[in-house]
Amino acid sequence: MEVFSDKEQITRVIDAFKAQQLTIGFVPTMGALHDGHLALVEKALENNDKVFVSVFVNPTQFNNLDDLKKYPRTLEKDIMLLETISKDILVFAPSVDVIYEGKTVSQNFNFDGLEHEMEGKFRPGHFNGVGTVVKRLFEIVKADNAYFGEKDFQQLQIIKKLVKNYSIPVNVIGCEIHREKNGLAMSSRNTRLTEIEKLEAPFIYKTLKTAKKFFGTKSADWVSKWVEKQFESNEVLKLEYFIIADIDSLKQIKKKSKNKKYRAFIAVYAGDIRLIDNIALN
Ligand code: PAF
Repeated sequence: MEVFSDKEQITRVIDAFKAQQLTIGFVPTMGALHDGHLALVEKALENNDKVFVSVFVNPTQFNNLDDLKKYPRTLEKDIMLLETISKDILVFAPSVDVIYEGKTVSQNFNFDGLEHEMEGKFRPGHFNGVGTVVKRLFEIVKADNAYFGEKDFQQLQIIKKLVKNYSIPVNVIGCEIHREKNGLAMSSRNTRLTEIEKLEAPFIYKTLKTAKKFFGTKSADWVSKWVEKQFESNEVLKLEYFIIADIDSLKQIKKKSKNKKYRAFIAVYAGDIRLIDNIALN
């Protein structure tokens, strides 16, 4: 397995692939890889000649310094995991300096309002950080296809907008949420859950599934109030938000319309660990 940390080195390799007209698949990650990431990599391997996985904990997308400090960093283990599916994967694990060239700050983006909804409200600056690093990674990796999980559905929509607004020649592919057997959406942060939090966390998806059932017959407001009530008595999980939104504008809906598609989005704290999830409603 080849691991690059240097921009010039990886650029030479990518340019050589491009000259041979090989297609490049790309899975950007912050490491601490789990089966959800591996599913994205498998998909990339199926549909591209060469596959790059980046492992970079991006400081500018953390609005909470403690979360950045505690974010798991397991590069050796990540490489070993990737090797179990293919030795041909190319890993890009740059330093902060390689990505930010001495100025670790975000660019300011306008994602047509998508950045102000949900995560944008609770994590100020987060999407400017995501946009900055993803744009930079796309400039370096020059992929044909890039794969992102739908667990971060808002991020996925924002990256699609980034690519459109900046005419970046990459096809952004959203992939289904990967879940533990108990329904908990896979996340690198799950490794930090205590035993009791691990036992309680599947309640998030269970609640989303019931909310989806109710959405068939009840109003969005009714369903939201019902979900809030479920969490009121939960001693382990603290609800930050539950929102039913239009998948294009990501704006919370008041009334359903026939031709629109909706998702329910949730953010929950288990101790100091923030978990997000979402479900398609129709
Ligand atoms: O989803 C993630 O892991 C990160 O937000 C990403 C897209 C790799 C950017 O740092």
